[in-house]
Amino acid sequence: MSNTVTLTDNRNGKSYEFPILDGTKGPSVIDISSLYKDTGMFTFDRGYTSTAMCRSAITYIDGEKGELMHRGYDIAWLAKNKMYLDLVYLLFYKHLPSQDEFVSFKKDLKERSYLNEKMLKLFDCFPDKAHPMAVLQACVATMSAYYKRDMNFDDMHDYMELAKRLVAKIPTFIAFHYRHTRGFPTIYPDLDRGFTENFLYMLRAFPHNKVELRPIEAKAFDTVLMLHADHEQNASTTTVRTVGSTHAHPYSCISAGIGALWGHAHGGANEGVIRQLEMIGSVDRVDEFIKRAKDHNDPFRLMGFGHRVYKNFDPRAKVLKGLRDQLINEIGIDSNLIKVATRIEEIALNDEYFISRNLYPNVDFHSGLILKALGIPNEMFAAIFVMGRVPGWLSQWMELKAQDTIKIVRPRQLYVGPTCPPEA
Ligand code: CMC
Repeated sequence: MSNTVTLTDNRNGKSYEFPILDGTKGPSVIDISSLYKDTGMFTFDRGYTSTAMCRSAITYIDGEKGELMHRGYDIAWLAKNKMYLDLVYLLFYKHLPSQDEFVSFKKDLKERSYLNEKMLKLFDCFPDKAHPMAVLQACVATMSAYYKRDMNFDDMHDYMELAKRLVAKIPTFIAFHYRHTRGFPTIYPDLDRGFTENFLYMLRAFPHNKVELRPIEAKAFDTVLMLHADHEQNASTTTVRTVGSTHAHPYSCISAGIGALWGHAHGGANEGVIRQLEMIGSVDRVDEFIKRAKDHNDPFRLMGFGHRVYKNFDPRAKVLKGLRDQLINEIGIDSNLIKVATRIEEIALNDEYFISRNLYPNVDFHSGLILKALGIPNEMFAAIFVMGRVPGWLSQWMELKAQDTIKIVRPRQLYVGPTCPPEA
C-alpha cells in the first residue's frame, strides 16, 4: 500500500495522489503543496484547524491525551524537577543545561538585563494608564532601532545572542513601566537573586527595604513562566513565524507576536479570568453567568475555559491547580474570588454543556489566580504571559531561520465578493 492519499474530483472523475508524511509522534500529514498546481484548487481551512504550517522539533502536544512535551521532556516532569531557566536553555540549545552551563547562562542573562538608559525616556511618553502590553510591544519594536545590525546576520551564534538579550530585557521593561506609572524609584535588575525572584524583586523593592520572598511565591511564579514557555504553533507563534518568513527584523517578529498574544482568546485570557471573577463578584451570581455562557445569543464566554487543542484536559492547568491551592493557603488571597472560581469550576465540570464540548479549565484559569495572589495587577497578566512565552517564540524563530530556504507565508482565499462593480 503506497503512503499516499488519493483525492477524486467527483465533478470530472479525475484523481490526484498526495504523499503522506509521518512525524516522530502524532498525526501524519498530507503534503498538499502541489495541490493548486495539480488541481487548480486551494484547500479551505478556517482558523487552520487541520493545517500543519511547518515542521518543528520543539514542542509536541497531544490534545486528546492532554500531553505537552518540550524537546521530548514531559511538562509535568519539567515543572516538578526543573526551573524556568532550564526550560529556556532547553528550548534554545536542544538539551538541558549542566550545572556549569546553567550558571553561565544565568550570568549571560544578568549581563543583558539592563536597558540602554536612553530607552528609559520611552516610559515618559506613555500615559500612566497605558496598557502594559501596548508599552511592551512598543519597547520591543524600539529595540529594532537600537540593535539595527541584528537584521543583517545569518549565524546561529548571533541569533542566540539576540535571544538572550530579549529574554533578559523583557522583565526589565515590564517592571520599569510598572514602577514608572506609580512614580516609584527605579530599581535595577539584581540577577544574583535568580531570574524569577529578580522580577518580583524589581516590582516590590524600595531602596530602604529588603524584599523577602517566600519560596512558594518564587516557585509558583517560576512555574507560571515555565508553563507558558512554548505551545507549538499557536496564534502568536504562527504570527512570529509569519512575520519571520518575510525576513523582517527579529524584534518586529517578537513585537508582532506580542500583538497577537494580547487578544482575550489567547494571552489576554488570564486577565479576563480575574476581571470576570471580579465582575461576577459573589457565589450567588455564578448560576446567572453560567446560564449566559451557555446561551448562543449571548456573546459572554467563561474565561479560562476551553482550548483549541486540548479536548480532554489542559496538562498545564493540572500542574498549576495544586500550586495555586498551596500558594493561596500559605499567603491568602481575597477569598471571595476563590469561592467564585471554585463554584464555577464545580458547576462547569458537571454540566452537560461544558462536558459535551470538552470545556475544561485551561492554564489561564489558574495562572490568573496565582498572579493575583502574588499581588501582580490584573492589567500586567498578559505581559507576564509574554515574559514566559518569549523563549518559545525565539526558539521557533531560530528554527525557521535555520532552514535552507524560507518560504514566505502567503495563504489564499475563497473569494465571495462581487464580480462586477456594484450599481451606482
Ligand atoms: N464558554 C462558553 N462556551 C464556550 C467556551 C467558553 N469559554 N469556549 C468554547 N465554547 C463553546 C462554543 O460556543 C462552541 O459551542 P457550539 O459548538 O455550541 O457552537 C463550542 O464550545 C466550541 O467553541 P469554539 O469557539 O469553536 O472553540 P475554539 O477551539 O475555536 O476556541 C477558545 C477555543 C480557547 C478560543 C475558546 O474556548 C474560548 O474563547 N475560551 C475562553 C478564552 C480563553 O480562556 N482562552 C485561553 C486559551 S488557553 C491560553 C492559550 O493557550 O492561548
